[in-house]
Amino acid sequence: MLLNLHKNHRLFLGLAAGIFLGLSTLIAIIPAFSVQKNNALLPGTPPTNPEVGAGLSVFAAENCMACHTQQVRNIDMDKTWGGRPGLPADYAGNARLDNLRATPSVLGTERTGPDLTEIGERQPSEDWHYLHLFNPRSVVKESIMPAYTWLFTTQTTITPYDKELNVPTELRQGITGHIVPTERARQLVAYLLSLKQVDLPDGQAPAFIQYKTTKPMASATSGSAEAALDGAPLYAQHCQACHQAGGEGLKGAFPPLKGSPIVTDANAEMLVRIVLQGYDARAEYGVMPPIGAKLTDAEVAAITTHERSSWGNQVPAVTPAFVKQIRAAIKTESTQ
Ligand code: HEC
Ligand code: HEC
Repeated sequence: MLLNLHKNHRLFLGLAAGIFLGLSTLIAIIPAFSVQKNNALLPGTPPTNPEVGAGLSVFAAENCMACHTQQVRNIDMDKTWGGRPGLPADYAGNARLDNLRATPSVLGTERTGPDLTEIGERQPSEDWHYLHLFNPRSVVKESIMPAYTWLFTTQTTITPYDKELNVPTELRQGITGHIVPTERARQLVAYLLSLKQVDLPDGQAPAFIQYKTTKPMASATSGSAEAALDGAPLYAQHCQACHQAGGEGLKGAFPPLKGSPIVTDANAEMLVRIVLQGYDARAEYGVMPPIGAKLTDAEVAAITTHERSSWGNQVPAVTPAFVKQIRAAIKTESTQ
């Protein structure tokens, strides 16, 4: 039948459409669903508020992301912009603005102005934001940011309930009367003030931050301890902050170890390597640091054995000798 392709236009178009739909499902639709399933807001994220939502809409309409990013990268030069690198979970709440407008890409690509991930923390003053938006030069003399005068209006009289802007004459851009913010300006500022990073659970400084070089945690046992150690407390000390007590992980930040194919693989090599070398395989999760590099073979064996025999995982134990062998193999690889 396929031989008729050059004669039968229905067959030809049908085949092309079929391939197109099949590939789209495979490389776009299924991955998009799996990413969404694997992402969620961090616990402790403040509930959404309609004014903040409307402010995001103004932010997108004014195209503030042309000059401002909202992404803290895991590199030294970004440490001024946030207490920790951004995670997919930080953006899990972003959604379509409405039926006609897609999810705004607040991550941005260019930093003509500062990153705004933590602006609500860095600059919590509403009045400052109004003045700055009306004319950035009124608060930052050298600023090259445009003046958003259309977000303000003038009134001839003023009541105590109006938020009048106190702008010096030379910076009023010829505008006379009492200058007050419009509703759109109020929404935009509510949005800016809401921009704060949500702390990771435990408030623990996450070890994956390269720019916060963490000191090795005090090791509970000496290196000579070859006797079987209890993996549960070691797991609690070294892994739980990220992978959680029940091994369930945290969507958008740390993968589950419960039921993980890597943890439950009959061959524990990959698992031991991840613990010793760290892991950064997927964009939907953060970076795992080489936690095990500072632990003894017996400790790594105890932790991995604990993971392989908890939360419904049921696979044979890992021995210190096996960890030693992998550690030696890693060493040889790195010196080659
Ligand atoms: C043409 C580029 C440009 C555009 C567009 C722009 N900004 Fe800016 N923005 C800057 C620059 C440059 C600075 C740094 C100087 C300053 O503080 O004014 C800045 C600073 C800021 C700051 C203070 C940041 C800090 O860390 O102190 C905020 C808040 C801000 N902009 C918000 C906005 C909003 C909201 C919009 C959209 C309505 C916007 N910007 C549009 C360039 C821009
Ligand atoms: C600072 C946070 C953090 C700590 C602490 C941590 N991990 Fe991880 N772990 C991660 C992240 C993030 C990933 C996913 C990396 C990726 O895929 O890009 C990961 C992935 C893994 C994986 C792969 C799981 C899978 O199915 O993909 C295993 C196994 C693992 N970690 C074990 C451990 C063990 C054992 C410990 C304790 C010794 C530990 N982790 C401590 C953050 C952490």
